[in-house]
Amino acid sequence: MSNTLLEKIRTLKKARNAVILAHNYQIGEVQDLADFTGDSLGLSVQASKTDADVIIFCGVMFMAETAKILSPQKTVLLPEINAGCPMANMITADELRKLKAKHQGALVVCYVNSTAEVKAESDYCCTSSNAVEVVNSLPNDKEIIFVPDQHLGRFVCERTGREMILWPGYCPTHVWISEKDIESAKSEHPDATVLAHPECTEPVKELADQLLSTGQMLKFAKKSDIKEFIIATEIGIIHTLRTQNPHKKFFAATERAVCPNMKKITLEKILHSLEDNKYEIVVEPQIADRAKLALDRMIEILPKT
Ligand code: 13P
Ligand code: SF4
Repeated sequence: MSNTLLEKIRTLKKARNAVILAHNYQIGEVQDLADFTGDSLGLSVQASKTDADVIIFCGVMFMAETAKILSPQKTVLLPEINAGCPMANMITADELRKLKAKHQGALVVCYVNSTAEVKAESDYCCTSSNAVEVVNSLPNDKEIIFVPDQHLGRFVCERTGREMILWPGYCPTHVWISEKDIESAKSEHPDATVLAHPECTEPVKELADQLLSTGQMLKFAKKSDIKEFIIATEIGIIHTLRTQNPHKKFFAATERAVCPNMKKITLEKILHSLEDNKYEIVVEPQIADRAKLALDRMIEILPKT
C-alpha cells in the first residue's frame, strides 16, 4: 500500500476537520485507517456526537443516511455511491404504510438497515445490539410490526417472548451461511465456540453458542478465555478479531459470507471523497425530521451486553 496515499488522506482529513467512521465489515485497510470502527449502533452514536465538520462514512447507504439524519449540520460523505444494502431495499415506505393500515394502532420498530423513508414511517429504530431492549421497552398491550429482517425479528420474538408482525426481508450475505457450514466448521474445530449474527437463519442460530451483533462479538472475543471461535457473519470482522486477539484463533463459518457492498470502499475512493466531496448524502428535511425521532429513541436504549 502506498504511504503517499495514506499521507494524502491524513493531510486532507486534518485540513477538512473530517472523521472517518468504518463498519466492522469494511476491508482491513479501511478499518485500520478509520478513526472509529464499530457496529451500526456504535457508529450511529459516534456520528451523533462527533465535533468534526465532515463525516466520511465507510459502510453502506443506510448508515451514511443515518449519520446525516443524526448530524444534519455536518457534511456526510459515502465514498462509493453504489454501496447499498439489499435488505434495506426489501421494504418501501408505501408497503409499510399499507401494513400499518392493516394493523392500526400497532407500533412500528424498524431495523436500522432500512431507508430513511421507512424510518420516517416507524416509531422506533433498533440495531441488532439493542433490538431486544427496544422491544422490551414497549407497552405489552400494543401490537408490534417489525421490519425488514425476518431473522432478526424471530430472534427478538424468542428473546422477548412477544409475538410480532414480521416482514419477510433478509440479508443475502447472512442467509448464505448454512447449517452444513456450521456443522463442518465444528467438526474441523471441535473446541471452537460458534458466534453467530442474529441475521443468520434459524437453523444456523440453533447451532450457535452465542448470538451477537458485530460489536458484541468483538467485546465477547476480547473478554472471554476461549481460544478458538467459528464466526458466522460477514467475514470482514475477522480482520479486527485477529488484530485485537493475536493469540486466539478465528475461523470463518464460510468464506462465502461476503457483503459485496461493504467491500466497495477503498483507500483511493476515500481520497477522492475528501478531494471532491464525493458523494454527499442529502436527506429531505421532512423525511429526516420524522426519521430522527425513531433514531433518537434507538440511541437512547443501550444494549445490556
Ligand atoms: P451490526 O454491525 O450492527 O451487527 O450489523 C450488521 C450488518 O449487517 C450491518 O449491515
Ligand atoms: Fe445489508 Fe447484509 Fe450487507 Fe449488512 S451484510 S449491509 S444487512 S446486505
